Amino acid sequence: MSLSAGLFITFEGIDGAGKSTHIASIARAFEATGRRVVLTREPGGTPLAEKLRGLVLNDPMDPLCESLLVFAARRDHLAQVIEPALADGAVVLCDRFTDATFAYQGHGRGFDLRVLEQLEAWVQRDAHGNLRQPDLTVWFDLPAAVAAERLASARVPDRFESQPQAFFQRVASGYAARAAQAPQRFARIDADQPRDAVAEAVRRAFAQRGWLPSS
Ligand code: TMP
Repeated sequence: MSLSAGLFITFEGIDGAGKSTHIASIARAFEATGRRVVLTREPGGTPLAEKLRGLVLNDPMDPLCESLLVFAARRDHLAQVIEPALADGAVVLCDRFTDATFAYQGHGRGFDLRVLEQLEAWVQRDAHGNLRQPDLTVWFDLPAAVAAERLASARVPDRFESQPQAFFQRVASGYAARAAQAPQRFARIDADQPRDAVAEAVRRAFAQRGWLPSS
């Protein structure tokens, strides 16, 4: 891969898995190598997609509506932010992407995975028929019971954070299923460790691919 090629990296895991601090330190590490970094999130990342995020997280709706809104937000995000940044050679670090839709709407809510596959193709295929997928997905894997303990002391919960533990068990198994389908794309991080050990494991995933120095 040439140095000027963009990199699309996504970060996934159930609520409470602790992705945020690690995303920030990976951003600093890439910047230290002289790369331009675009730090973004889903649902969100554009003014329109952030409005849709507010609806998805707070307004009651059925799983089809939820799926359509997260994919509508994704379409705008890809067109306005992700694709232009990749074309410009940037490193795009995105807090959640389509694996979250399969995990939350598909496995968590029980929505039809084949419909999600169709929406994925509609939203992520370019004019040449190539399906945009992350170059790497860092998956913070954490037992739902541990995540529930961490979330108990957290902020006012949104429509997802307030779900019962069984929901997060299904979401976690959804991530495992997506990882099994594309093992080369996923780096599984054991998130049930002290923060420094998690940070080290995350860093190793990037070093192994030759994208960052090892410490
Ligand atoms: P965040 O709190 O990590 O920013 O994520 C927002 C919430 O949205 C989180 O509970 C997961 C959920 N979500 C979905 O249900 N489907 C999706 O496609 C995405 C991207 C997030």
